[in-house]
Amino acid sequence: MHVKPESALTDPQNIQQTYDRFSSLYDLIFRPYLSWGRDRAIEILAPTRGSRVLEIGVGTGLSLEYYPDNVEVVGFDFSFGMLREAKQKALEESHCRVDLMQMDAQNLAFSDGAFDFIMAAYVLTVVPDPDKAIRELFRVAKPGARVVLVNYLRSGNKLIGLIEDILHPFFSRLGLFTLDHNLPGLLKKYGAEKLRIEPTSFLKTHHIISFNVPA
Ligand SMILES: C[S@@+](CC[C@H](N)C(=O)[O-])C[C@H]1O[C@@H](n2cnc3c(N)ncnc32)[C@H](O)[C@@H]1O
Repeated sequence: MHVKPESALTDPQNIQQTYDRFSSLYDLIFRPYLSWGRDRAIEILAPTRGSRVLEIGVGTGLSLEYYPDNVEVVGFDFSFGMLREAKQKALEESHCRVDLMQMDAQNLAFSDGAFDFIMAAYVLTVVPDPDKAIRELFRVAKPGARVVLVNYLRSGNKLIGLIEDILHPFFSRLGLFTLDHNLPGLLKKYGAEKLRIEPTSFLKTHHIISFNVPA
């Protein structure tokens, strides 16, 4: 019988507390580990001049330096601690206008079709209900909008899969991420078009997932 590990990822308050607690250490630990593909992701996103970009779960703002100077980025996160760090990066490292706010990816305060481009890095394996978050993503995207996600996906490699199975309960309990979702399946369910999945880390566990919202 497979007993599911108790996870902190079912309660948004737990997630918020975890990231609030880790926020000042996040860059130290995760900047090198999660750096794979961040610049490439924004290269694939290719936001056009004057466009409005939404970054979901902006975290400490590690992606902000990669946006060109002629776009407007709206970034939100659930954790105030992470947003405090992002504010600093928006001031010191970004080249474009950046507006930061606190919000839950599962319940967005934006109107329908508000964004031309959407990006989310290492977020959808953290939110308690990714189906809800993806539904919201599709709602606030303009018809035909381009979306890029950077995410951990369960490995097809047996050895790496075994290591993931061993480490997964630990990370899940901490509220850092879960591998229980079928992200590509969810995207297909909402009608993602031109879906492409590109492995980005040397272990091929992190992926850049790009697609267009139906026009
Ligand atoms: C692994 S971090 C990734 C942060 C950043 N995108 C990066 O690439 O470094 C996951 C982020 O998702 C945020 N998050 C988790 N659940 C969220 C939710 N429901 N709504 C918004 N942000 C959320 C966390 O606070 C955290 O900043």
